[in-house]
Amino acid sequence: MSPRSPMRIFVTRPIPEAGIRPLKARGYDVAINAEARDRPAEERELVAGARGTDAVLSLLTDKITSRVMDAGRPTLKIVANLAVGYDNIDLIAAAERNIRVTHTPGVLDESVAEHAFALLMAISKRIVEGDRYVREGKFRSWGPMLMLGADLAEKTLGLIGAGRIASRVAGFAHKGFRMKILYNDLRRNERLEDEVGATFVSPLEALIPQCDFLSLHCPLNAQTEHLIDERRLGLMKPSAYLINTARGPIVDEAALVRALELGKIKGAALDVFEFEPKVTEGLLRLDNVVMTPHTASASEATRNKMAEMAAANIIEALEGRTPPNLVKIS
Ligand code: GLV
Repeated sequence: MSPRSPMRIFVTRPIPEAGIRPLKARGYDVAINAEARDRPAEERELVAGARGTDAVLSLLTDKITSRVMDAGRPTLKIVANLAVGYDNIDLIAAAERNIRVTHTPGVLDESVAEHAFALLMAISKRIVEGDRYVREGKFRSWGPMLMLGADLAEKTLGLIGAGRIASRVAGFAHKGFRMKILYNDLRRNERLEDEVGATFVSPLEALIPQCDFLSLHCPLNAQTEHLIDERRLGLMKPSAYLINTARGPIVDEAALVRALELGKIKGAALDVFEFEPKVTEGLLRLDNVVMTPHTASASEATRNKMAEMAAANIIEALEGRTPPNLVKIS
């Protein structure tokens, strides 16, 4: 009898070594699509890479479609996403093909919450604008009306989505700045209510007009796409700020540009974009916008943990156990 050939893993783009090492230590044959270091993997690369593999380790930039999964048939058992979000994966197609899907919840909560808060402070304190002003040699004198921003203390923070990341943001806001926390989600989060005195407000139309800061923390799905549209932007206070570290398409970006241009809201701080990596042109021209390139979880420690977690999910699945971070398909 010939020895069984090693399990094959396709890694769609280079990832931290922390995720590769455990797979190699298991004796798996690990193929990394090194071409796609600084760009999303193309569908033809995903299809070619999935052929004959037991597992695909994917990133949020990869569209894992039924075509990709079919290319992996009949060997493909698991798609392990290196992200907490999994809107890039066709979950129905995966379920139909009996392919497991996993993600990396928990390990990035602190990093993303810190980043959301850094954005909130950057936009309200005009940090990036001020930095540009200084670099451009425009700083000629302290002035009583120079670059006035907003304070946080005792203001109202609204959270849309009240999971782990939102709860940490709420903790910073409440404990650090005595902010009042309002939230909306599909269900109530009693722990959040106990810990920071958060108040559940529904519908969104009742929540939005009360907020000085509105921070998005819900997943992207059919119900949340363009959740923040022209009408809801119109309900925000003209002095309020929008912060998005969730997913770009939750916000109608064209409507956001109009709201910012017309002064319907004060500013926006965005880590994610509707047409990522493309950024709606109008946003680039506005001073009352702070942007980062989807780097909210990008600390070295967190990215290592995410990579280790994706690898552990693969190992569990390929060794016949239930991976711990299975995405449940409802
Ligand atoms: C980042 O956006 C993630 O989903 O992990």
